[in-house]
Amino acid sequence: MASSELQKRAIYFLGFVALLTAVLIFFPSDETIFSYTATQLGLQVLADGSLATLAGQKPTMMGDTTISLVVNVLRIVKILLWMTVVVTIVRFVFYSITKALYRNGAPGEVSSLLQTVISVIIYIVSFFIIFQTQFPGVQLAPLFTGSTIIGIVVGLALQDTLGNLFAGLALQADQPFQVGDVVIISGRGEGVVEMVSWRGVKIRTFQNKLLVISNSVLGKETIEVAPKDNLNAKAVFFNTLYSHSPTRTIQFVREAVRQVDNVSKKMRPVVRIRNLGDNGIDFEVKYWLDDYTIQHDTDALIRQRIWYVFQREKIDFAYPTRTLHIEPKPVEAAPDEVVNNIAEHLNRIPIFNPLSDEEIERLANASTSRVYAPGEAIVRAGQVGNSMFVIIRGSVKVQITENDYQKTVNTLAEDDFFGEMSLLTGEPRSASVIAIVETQVLRIDKNGLKPILEANPELVGVISELIEERKMALTKEVAKSDELEISPKKGAITSIRKFFGLQ
Ligand code: CMP
Repeated sequence: MASSELQKRAIYFLGFVALLTAVLIFFPSDETIFSYTATQLGLQVLADGSLATLAGQKPTMMGDTTISLVVNVLRIVKILLWMTVVVTIVRFVFYSITKALYRNGAPGEVSSLLQTVISVIIYIVSFFIIFQTQFPGVQLAPLFTGSTIIGIVVGLALQDTLGNLFAGLALQADQPFQVGDVVIISGRGEGVVEMVSWRGVKIRTFQNKLLVISNSVLGKETIEVAPKDNLNAKAVFFNTLYSHSPTRTIQFVREAVRQVDNVSKKMRPVVRIRNLGDNGIDFEVKYWLDDYTIQHDTDALIRQRIWYVFQREKIDFAYPTRTLHIEPKPVEAAPDEVVNNIAEHLNRIPIFNPLSDEEIERLANASTSRVYAPGEAIVRAGQVGNSMFVIIRGSVKVQITENDYQKTVNTLAEDDFFGEMSLLTGEPRSASVIAIVETQVLRIDKNGLKPILEANPELVGVISELIEERKMALTKEVAKSDELEISPKKGAITSIRKFFGLQ
């Protein structure tokens, strides 16, 4: 696409330059214009080049002046036409160079400042040469060197512009940052560099505003740069009550942060105690970002994940101890009520239909409720699994890895269950299960299920049928990626019996 654009421009360019050149070639010479104008004014050009009236007398001053005016105006037109040719050629050459150098990337980083400086030099030199060919008698150089007054006036007028230009040149030579880098300019703001020009720098702030700073101002400031091709780090802070084990907190938070999008997989996040504060233990999470320009979104997601993990693991944030925090205690459901609620859900699951009310209640007693954030993994492929889950609220997707991509093989919703394969056969998790929205699940572990399976051999049959079905579906997908080892030949029923030590 880019090359066809270049071709189109090349055709326009050649056509335009050819047209201008043709006009210049066929442009009437000074002599032609001179004699034509003289004839129009009723004069004749003598053999020595001087003018005379048709009657052979000396022409009036008026006639002489008009002819030289016409000749000079046409010379200026010629200069303008030549300058148009020069400008067109220079612009096309720069365009082609930019295209050739940045065929795949953004051309934004080509030094537009350098382009401008080179173009201006070429224009000035070309103008001198063209001007001298048209007006050989006029000396341009003394105009620039001789006039001190003009120098001072122009100098004063361009003081700021030249200051910016030279500061810009220094910036180009130094290249402390490039387009796409995140910069923090002390006292002025922070954002992503969008453009570096000969006048200044344009920065897109995180509020999507444009911050324009002139080069001369920028030269005096301290600039903190987070280059876009660098593994930049950030810190997020949180705290917990003194009653919670920091080791546990660190372990849970690190695991939660690792799963957040844009947290680099190249470096393990660091979670550590920053301070033993007045209100509780102050922690910091140091993590590295793939894309630093969306750092604030990533910070927010990390805080959100910390909240969820705290909620699940019953860890409390520390409140300021000096603030009187009076909050009506939420009326907690009585244990019986909780068990009844869980039992109600378990009753709705078809595979548990054969169970008696007492067995359902026993199962409900052995289950715990957990909440997961959108995008959070509830189980991960390949891990050892000793629990299964029933979805009470929300939905999940079942994913396998195929050529480095996460492929969704199924989605499950309220009253569906998952995680039964590993729990019942002892094999590693066959797939990852990720919460699509905030999802509440019931977690049933091996010890809770064992007495139920022992008392209901037909349940083993029903579950193993479903496991076989899911395995078949997975085998089809996995055959392409051969990421996980699924053994459909080995009957699930045998595995379950063996794993649970059943007859
Ligand atoms: P488990 O292997 O313990 O962990 C991943 C879970 O994903 C697995 O148990 C099943 O419960 C579930 N699962 C695997 N394949 C499918 C499928 N094709 N459809 C629905 N759920 C599945």
